[in-house]
Amino acid sequence: MPSFPSSTLDIPQVKAVPCHIAIIMDGNGRWAKQRMLPRAAGHKRGVEIVREAVKACVARGVEYLTLFAFSSENWRRPADEVSMLKQLFIMALEREAEKLHRNGVRLRVVGDIAPFGNKITELVGRAERLTRDNKSMTLTIAANYGGRWDLLQAMKKLIETKPEQKGAFTEEQLADCLSMAYAPEPDLFIRTGGEQRISNFLLWQLAYSEFYFTDTLWPDFNAAALDQAIESFQRRERRFGRTSEQLEIAGEAPPAKTELA
Ligand code: IPE
Ligand code: IPE
Ligand code: MG
Repeated sequence: MPSFPSSTLDIPQVKAVPCHIAIIMDGNGRWAKQRMLPRAAGHKRGVEIVREAVKACVARGVEYLTLFAFSSENWRRPADEVSMLKQLFIMALEREAEKLHRNGVRLRVVGDIAPFGNKITELVGRAERLTRDNKSMTLTIAANYGGRWDLLQAMKKLIETKPEQKGAFTEEQLADCLSMAYAPEPDLFIRTGGEQRISNFLLWQLAYSEFYFTDTLWPDFNAAALDQAIESFQRRERRFGRTSEQLEIAGEAPPAKTELA
């Protein structure tokens, strides 16, 4: 598997358009509540807006889009909401896999999906196989995903596959065992819905991601809202531990920042 530059061991290349955007899609319940609708209506609208996000990211040249759909802690929700979310996931997999394929999008699902049952496991396997060679973008859905679960499964894998190292593992080896080893670290992390927390998302890979929090609720997060997030990203100075002066000497100061000055 090709390894991607690590934000702690290398200095990743900074491009104007984020190569990888990771999003916590939050606020579906509140969107529904504002309209006196059941929470389910917010989740349905949330799935619809995913299509817009995918299209917009492909059009803007984003190579990886990762969406947090169900956290390892979301099982704590009422059983009927969990069951409704599972149904929506099934419907989305059944309806969208072909469309993603036609648009050249590769689909990956990360997280411990076995507890969702056979139907979802089979649909995920089928959609991943169908889209595996697609090149326009990789869409990852994180389902029953937790950053701690991911780190723990990576450590277990390392101990099992490399017992001779007696725990003396490198950062690269650990990164290669994470469930998203096929993608670079996110350049831009977005959370909709107003909360400013990671909620156990990609704990390892967010080490040097740029964070963008917006009060916009996920069902309202359209292409224009995405563009605002990307514009905010373009104004950031990504130093990876260095000073601004070092960036200027290396010619790495962000172009948008120069325009604003
Ligand atoms: C995000 O919306 C979707 C999932 C977590 C599945 P929420 O359901 O968390 O919406 P709020 O936070 O209650 O508004
Ligand atoms: C985070 O949203 C998980 C997903 C969007 C899938 P939550 O709504 O579950 O997060 P908390 O509970 O407010 O931190
Ligand atoms: Mg929420």
